[in-house]
Amino acid sequence: MMASSSSAWVKPHNFSTSSSTSLVHDFGCCSLNNSKSITLKKSNKRRANHIKCTLQTPSLHHFPNYTLNKEEMLMKPNKSQDLNMFQRAAAMALDAFETVLVNTERKYPLPKTTDPSVQIAGNFAPVPEQPVRHHLPVVGSIPVCIQGVYVRNGANPLFEPVGGHHLFDGDGMIHSVSIGDGTASYACRFTETERFVQERNIGRPVFPKAIGELHGYTGVGRICLFYARGLAGILDHKNGSGVANAGLVYFNKHLLAMSEDDLPYHVRVTSSGDLETVGRYDFDGQLSSAMIAHPKVDPVTGELFALSYDVVQKPYLKYFKFSKDGKKSSDVEIPLAEPTMMHDFAITERFVVIPDQQVVFKLQEMIRGGSPVVYDKNKTSRFGILDKNAENASGIKWVDVPDCFCFHLWNAWEEPETDEVVVIGSCMTPADSIFNECDANLKSALSEIRLNLKTGVSTRRPIIPESQQLNLEAGMVNRNLLGRKTQYAYLAIAEPWPKVSGIAKVDLTTGEVQKFIYGDCCYGGEPYFVPRDPNSERKDDGYILAFMHDENTWKSELKIINAMTLELEASVKLPSRVPYGFHGTFINSKDLEKQSSPA
Ligand SMILES: [Fe+2]
Repeated sequence: MMASSSSAWVKPHNFSTSSSTSLVHDFGCCSLNNSKSITLKKSNKRRANHIKCTLQTPSLHHFPNYTLNKEEMLMKPNKSQDLNMFQRAAAMALDAFETVLVNTERKYPLPKTTDPSVQIAGNFAPVPEQPVRHHLPVVGSIPVCIQGVYVRNGANPLFEPVGGHHLFDGDGMIHSVSIGDGTASYACRFTETERFVQERNIGRPVFPKAIGELHGYTGVGRICLFYARGLAGILDHKNGSGVANAGLVYFNKHLLAMSEDDLPYHVRVTSSGDLETVGRYDFDGQLSSAMIAHPKVDPVTGELFALSYDVVQKPYLKYFKFSKDGKKSSDVEIPLAEPTMMHDFAITERFVVIPDQQVVFKLQEMIRGGSPVVYDKNKTSRFGILDKNAENASGIKWVDVPDCFCFHLWNAWEEPETDEVVVIGSCMTPADSIFNECDANLKSALSEIRLNLKTGVSTRRPIIPESQQLNLEAGMVNRNLLGRKTQYAYLAIAEPWPKVSGIAKVDLTTGEVQKFIYGDCCYGGEPYFVPRDPNSERKDDGYILAFMHDENTWKSELKIINAMTLELEASVKLPSRVPYGFHGTFINSKDLEKQSSPA
């Protein structure tokens, strides 16, 4: 099955009937018509011009007109379930309840943060899977030191949304570019999570969308609906509901795809450069709770450090680590007064740095009709510093950092001469604007936060001078120096938000910024730094990898940029569109040779 390019939806089916319940939306991407082909539609231009929010994307206008044939359409046909008489009756009743929910939701306009026509418009729209393609055209020369596979995660909803949908709600899809001896191959595959497999087999979305749907009375209704279907045996609700769409880490011979609401998923890179999902991964029975999507591998010890948060019951936060060969430590319960969103954290040589900030979960807000993700203006943000080897949280040192919200932390290190831990992150304002609609323009300022362990006092400063401020989100430091003082960070220039118009190389000491700009109507995502030679004296000796999409030609490329000069070394022409996505990693060929085999 091949698809040259484009977006793809699966048309949802009912449990009890074969008729669709999908809304007739113009998503600015594509829809299924009666002839079972997918036709890309142009969106309502006037409406698009009035969209203004953190996920605004004017590219709605740039869709080409073309049609996919039946073979290109989707991966697998919808299957009818084998339900007994009781289950059929229950399914019909629950379908009717869902219809009431959907009709109730339709009475009110969706906020832009959950409106699919905003959230997955333009090049945020999904694509079909792409089997591996070899010998891709390359302009320029791929540096010989780059041998391995670059993989990048992202959200790619299988089904056309029937209601609210946030960008973060989409099914996980990994895009991979395998590079060896100057040639490149490409593939993209869904990560076959429990929810993905069940929904594909059932033929419609049945798992609640964590951000797009779980707000207000109807959100409560959707939770009840999900568990009722589980109890009736219509779906299996006991094996996680995560989408595994956010982060990727290669640890102990395993490539893991992660979202913070579930266990990781083990994905293999095949010998041909394709991807296959092995399954939900509990580290050989050692992990029973969700794990955040940004665990940290210490480059010296090879240990993996991670957090797990719970939005319902205590403990709201747990810390744990894995030895280099995958043995898990005991959980360390971190005492928090309320469940808090914790997307990322940082490590130093000796400590983990845990941000306890003002975006919290208040499930009772759903009963009042709102979103459970709220900004708590009465809370003071703080960072906890805990010994990496701590067996309990009694020694954690909390340092207040007022009015600070970092969605991501790029690095941290210790400066013993001043008793400080230095944290590098992008401070976002308004803090909850990714999740909740707000009028203020979002700002994401690269910042240095100093936490004094002796005095308990913090300082915070923008690294880039005010006159040159840029929104910088998604990026990294040299992973070989994680937890140690780093001179450079490589970050996405998230302007116009949420699109990425280029890459910024920032000297964290001087604030000097060098830029690589993609060009007119070209946008990218997270840059990934691959060191050329770990023993090099230059801190920036390496290459930056990043996907780029041209909204004029609707073509995508992998850019390979010299990190010292920010000059383009090579562009790998990709056979199909790569939507804007989230986080990636690079696995060098030597590590890939040791990859774990499926059990
Ligand atoms: Fe992230």
